Amino acid sequence: MNDFEIDVIQGLSHSPKFLPCKYLYDEKGSDLFEQICETKDYYVTRADLELHQTKLPEISQLIGPHAHIIEFGSGAGTKTQQLLSSLTEPRAYTPIEISPTALALSVETLQSIFPDLSIIPLEADYTQDIDPDDLRLDPPARRRVVYFPGSTIGNFTREEARGFLTRMGKIAQQNGAVLVGVDLIKPIPELLRAYDDDEGITERFNKNLLVRLKEELGAELDLDAFKHEARFNSELNRIEMHLVATKPTSIRVAQHHFHLAAGETIHTESSHKYTIEDFQALAKEAGLIAERVWLDEGARFSMHYLVPDPSKGRLNQ
Ligand code: AVJ
Repeated sequence: MNDFEIDVIQGLSHSPKFLPCKYLYDEKGSDLFEQICETKDYYVTRADLELHQTKLPEISQLIGPHAHIIEFGSGAGTKTQQLLSSLTEPRAYTPIEISPTALALSVETLQSIFPDLSIIPLEADYTQDIDPDDLRLDPPARRRVVYFPGSTIGNFTREEARGFLTRMGKIAQQNGAVLVGVDLIKPIPELLRAYDDDEGITERFNKNLLVRLKEELGAELDLDAFKHEARFNSELNRIEMHLVATKPTSIRVAQHHFHLAAGETIHTESSHKYTIEDFQALAKEAGLIAERVWLDEGARFSMHYLVPDPSKGRLNQ
């Protein structure tokens, strides 16, 4: 049994049913996510890009020269290129990515655009502890900046995000910083539209998970018995994607049978939304001081520059 099968059986056995969101992002799913970013309803990427375009001069000023940029993720995108172009003599760039092919592709692309940049890729799961030796440079950089754009932090629960920020602060070390993109709370209809776009791409993205169950695990299920739904959970301030059974139906995986009543759902992804104050408070709980925050013009998206709190002792052990 592979991890996918174990996780699927575990998630479908749970009440309420869920599937881990990382399984949405196979090749097909990642491609669909790229297409979501192009839809008129999904404002997140556009706001993030606009923020990069307009605020990077200030951001790179604050970072200063000879920084070691450590990105959580493969860094294949436009935003990383924009950040790297705006910096003064970056010391090095390290993308941390679990997929070796994604990592190699990104290194190849970036190295051709920035031939003089020292790129030191790290094949690792950034949701787990990183070996500090893997990030050591000789001579050391003036400062480390842990970069996590795109509001991927929204996939985590508040508790998980706090733990994650704590780890990022430790990696940044005492003189370093954490640069993280966070999507902001806004009127619910706007949020719902972003996660249930008119073109139906998000629906295909969500249902691709069921296709994977069929194709990769040989699961028996009726694709037409499920519909995509975006919900706003106002207690937890998050958008949730669900696959809703439109009639009683069942899923068989290996020798396991899972029954769903009409209206029962499988929760597939969460995107937590924050106010600026709320996120800064969370960062504080993680031992980070909110030094600066930038917004796009429409105040839809935020980028936070967080620094380890010196009074919280030596974080760079
Ligand atoms: C890639 C996690 C930032 O939550 O907005 C978009 C994923 N899912 N539409 C997000 C997503 C459905 C996206 N992140």
